[in-house]
Amino acid sequence: MIDDMLDYLRDIRSRPVWQNIPTQIQRYFDSPLPIKGKSLNEVYSEFFDNVLPYPMGNIHPRFWGWALGPGTVTGALADFLGSSMNSNLGGGYHGAVLVEHQVINWIKELMGFQKSASGLLTSGCSAANLIGLIVARNVKTHFDIRKNGLQKISAPLVVYASQEIHSSIKKAVEILGLGSNQLHLIPVNNRFQVDIDILQNRIIKDRKDGYEPFCVVGGAGTINTGSFDDLDALNKVCKKENLWFHIDGAFGVWASLVPSLKKNIFGLDKADSLALDLHKWMYMPYEIGCVLIRNKESHLQTFSMMPDYLSHSKKDGGLIGGNLEWFSDFGFQLSRGFRALKAWMSIKEIGMERYGRLIQQNINQAKYLAALIVDSSNLELMTPVFLNIVCFRYFRLGISPINLDEINKKIVVALQEKGIAVLSWTIIEGKYVMRAANFNYRSKKQDFNLLIKKIVQIGDVIASKFTS
Ligand SMILES: Cc1ncc(COP(=O)(O)O)c(C=O)c1O
Repeated sequence: MIDDMLDYLRDIRSRPVWQNIPTQIQRYFDSPLPIKGKSLNEVYSEFFDNVLPYPMGNIHPRFWGWALGPGTVTGALADFLGSSMNSNLGGGYHGAVLVEHQVINWIKELMGFQKSASGLLTSGCSAANLIGLIVARNVKTHFDIRKNGLQKISAPLVVYASQEIHSSIKKAVEILGLGSNQLHLIPVNNRFQVDIDILQNRIIKDRKDGYEPFCVVGGAGTINTGSFDDLDALNKVCKKENLWFHIDGAFGVWASLVPSLKKNIFGLDKADSLALDLHKWMYMPYEIGCVLIRNKESHLQTFSMMPDYLSHSKKDGGLIGGNLEWFSDFGFQLSRGFRALKAWMSIKEIGMERYGRLIQQNINQAKYLAALIVDSSNLELMTPVFLNIVCFRYFRLGISPINLDEINKKIVVALQEKGIAVLSWTIIEGKYVMRAANFNYRSKKQDFNLLIKKIVQIGDVIASKFTS
């Protein structure tokens, strides 16, 4: 299996980025529940024939959709090692727990958090955002919310974020029982940053209207464009208004590894809680994200729970003793996998300098793609390129805005169906745009050249149907 997978990765360029799943393969997955087992060889060959040829495509050099990472061989091997040990990282005094503590300490150091802060590796940034906002809600409500829930609430609790914030924040607000009406989205300026004056005025107005503001979420690398909110200004608003400051830094935080960008990305360390991903711009295989909480006590008070059968203390010896905190006291999961190992091995193997160079390469490539777009007479760049995300579209004079939207959507789908490249789309200022997000260390210049050539070719064919 390992040999096959290494060959599979080596030959990735020779395959389509994505391909449709034939009906007979879909039907194969209707096969009944196996009552009797069969040999692993047979099962593996079923995987080889029916699953492996139909990947999402994000390991391919021309995959730039959404915000997906390509994974690494080291990460895959580390997952194999970690699953072989099959340690449960809910807690206990064992080696895997030491690994996770070290990884979290490294992330604290990188993000400018004190060692006294707490952290947890999560399934991804959605879970990290949720944990950050749960701690925020519990700290900022003025009664024992763990006992009373929201039943005792006297005024609707409000979270603020920019209109560009990721949907996982809305989901978290809904899960928290606050209702998405209580996520107040603030307009952005022409750099896609939250407008600080509008935010400030909205907080004042909401208080007058009987709401209870408790949290502001800043974006460090927003999903549509990769823009950064003014984190320093947001921190000042939070301090002045006594609000929790959470940052969603899913991928953008890693731009701080690029020496020339570090100076622009200040303010991460001001957050009360910071959510980020390692399966995007740290290239690690799914699933791994992280949440940091500045005040460890608040984090513990939110999640710690010690029924008799889990009781543990530093005084105890054996597996339940030792001086390591239990991760189950810092989140909603009790049983937790050894996802820390892939982070630990990857960070040791690659090192921060090389990570910085890889991230810089992705940014340079995004700028290169933007230059190709600007040079092309039928393409237009729709937003500035802040990091590694390029929003653009095909256009032709004389075609209506609705038809241009349709053409751009059709180009994205055609690129996927032809197996050439995967882009996604989004809406910028009411227009459908193609969006390339480059988290891909396998991409080369030639891949971007091909992308533009094919987009223009496909776009011209589709557009001709709208002009004739
Ligand atoms: C800015 C931002 N925040 C949060 C998330 C959610 O992260 P995950 O998919 O790891 O749950 C994403 C995912 O793309 C994102 O781009």
